[in-house]
Amino acid sequence: MTRSRIAGIGMYVPEQVVTNQDLTKYMETSDAWIQERTGIKERRYAHRTEETTTTMGVEAAKIAIERAGITPQDIDFIVFATLSPDYYFPGCGVLVQRAMKMKEIGALDVRNQCSGFVYALSVADQFIRGGMYKNVLVIGSEKHSFGLDFSTRGRNVSVIFGDGAGAVVLQPTTSDNQGILSTHLHSDGESAEILAMYNPGTHANHWMEQSLAAFDEAEIGQMFMSHEMIDKAQNFPFMDGPSVFKKAVVKFPEVIMEALDANGCTPADLKLLIPHQANLRIAQFVQQKLGLSEDQVYNNIQKYGNTTAASVPLALCEAWQNGKIQEGDLVCLAAFGSGFTWASALLKW
Ligand code: UT7
Repeated sequence: MTRSRIAGIGMYVPEQVVTNQDLTKYMETSDAWIQERTGIKERRYAHRTEETTTTMGVEAAKIAIERAGITPQDIDFIVFATLSPDYYFPGCGVLVQRAMKMKEIGALDVRNQCSGFVYALSVADQFIRGGMYKNVLVIGSEKHSFGLDFSTRGRNVSVIFGDGAGAVVLQPTTSDNQGILSTHLHSDGESAEILAMYNPGTHANHWMEQSLAAFDEAEIGQMFMSHEMIDKAQNFPFMDGPSVFKKAVVKFPEVIMEALDANGCTPADLKLLIPHQANLRIAQFVQQKLGLSEDQVYNNIQKYGNTTAASVPLALCEAWQNGKIQEGDLVCLAAFGSGFTWASALLKW
């Protein structure tokens, strides 16, 4: 049976370290509040003008491709997960294709926020299992620092997020003791608006009470992005943190158990759980709920904050680089976030 395996993995974080103390220059917050509620001590911010979501993704991809022992010209397909793309459109996948001088291969962008990487991995896995491609590049990358409200108004969101990228190359394997065993994807759109960035968007919710005829040309032109939206900070992410937290601590254990059950495994069989780095308190809750030891869960949110689609590959890569994963080890990736969407992948390294 053909499965896909991670043949190469890479990560990139920008140089600039931003501590909790640094953020107190812009908003009313404190190192104590941030550490106590989230576990975050610092995060990285990309260079304002020279780095983008794509350039960081490319840096991570270069390492993953080299470690897979291939060249960018060998890549058959790109799947790029992000919520902070360089452009509203086109997506970052094509920019990677251009930057890395790849062949005229397919490039797909996945917009599933925090679970974006696990979704992207699942898509790539299907292409390999089905025999269509031999080398699929999967990237998760975010440049959050460019789109956050750094005033006190936005502090519940802005202190959490950081920039960075991770990438893997998937290749086929017929080994019984290696590869992605299964992936599990879920969504529930009921609470779509409680963790969302509404604008720019085509919802036009705030215009809907009136018919289009009531607007003049200038107003119609401003439906997508208006001065009012900017004045009211409606172009920044919105999050009802406590509601997200409550749902996350239910769905994380559920989707991890789903992956383990599907493969006849138990939490005790896990060498390492790599949870999406949303909040250290969530990861600790999940660890306790599943009866895992501290050694069985990898966290690096303390250094990088929540990097959304980049967080799972960043943590996976760092764990592997630190010798925490060896060949044949059972590893579970799990994520939950905006949508809501949640997902898991169980793999043998
Ligand atoms: O990866 C995407 C998925 N996202 C998540 O999983 C996030 C899940 N949620 C969380 O991680 C937490 O809800 C947060 C860390 C976002 C917030 O922690 P919390 O313990 O739920 O705090 P809260 O939102 O209930 O706010 C408590 C208080 C409020 O003040 P009052 O109303 O009690 O006076 C906030 O205004 O803390 C205040 N606050 C802050 N204070 C200092 C909110 N943000 C900050 C801040 N610094 N940065």
